[in-house]
Amino acid sequence: MEKILLLNGPNINMLGKREKEVYGSFTLEDVEQDMNQLFSQHDIELISYQSNHEGDLVDHIQSADGVYAGVIFNPAAYTHTSIALHDAIKSIQTPVIEVHISNVHQREAFRHVSMTAPACSGQIVGFGMQGYRLAAYALLENLNRFN
Ligand code: DQA
Repeated sequence: MEKILLLNGPNINMLGKREKEVYGSFTLEDVEQDMNQLFSQHDIELISYQSNHEGDLVDHIQSADGVYAGVIFNPAAYTHTSIALHDAIKSIQTPVIEVHISNVHQREAFRHVSMTAPACSGQIVGFGMQGYRLAAYALLENLNRFN
């Protein structure tokens, strides 16, 4: 069975509590449940992992190579700073789709730059929880599951 990795960076475990006016009131568990349901309909196994630690995220990206058909990745604040994550994404063949819940381009200038997006297959920004679904659809297209 093919597998997809849902990877979330720092403070995404605080969804539902943190800045609800920016991120909404859904939780990471809600996202995981939604993704599980979607991928199970396509006979794909979803593995979800969240970490607040940059090196841990690098390890997970590296170990996705050849194991997962794709990665849906919200690098959160590391988006704007992490050359290590950029390099890790570049080092693997597996497609990585970057997701941001909020529209980072409507926010502080430091959020307008993504270190990671140039290494990714694509980026989905500003669609709330649905952004994860849109990333899932992009990967399913990639895997020809809609044909
Ligand atoms: C975020 C946007 C980042 O700027 C921020 O640091 C986050 C969440 C988003 O999903 O909108 O933690 O990645």
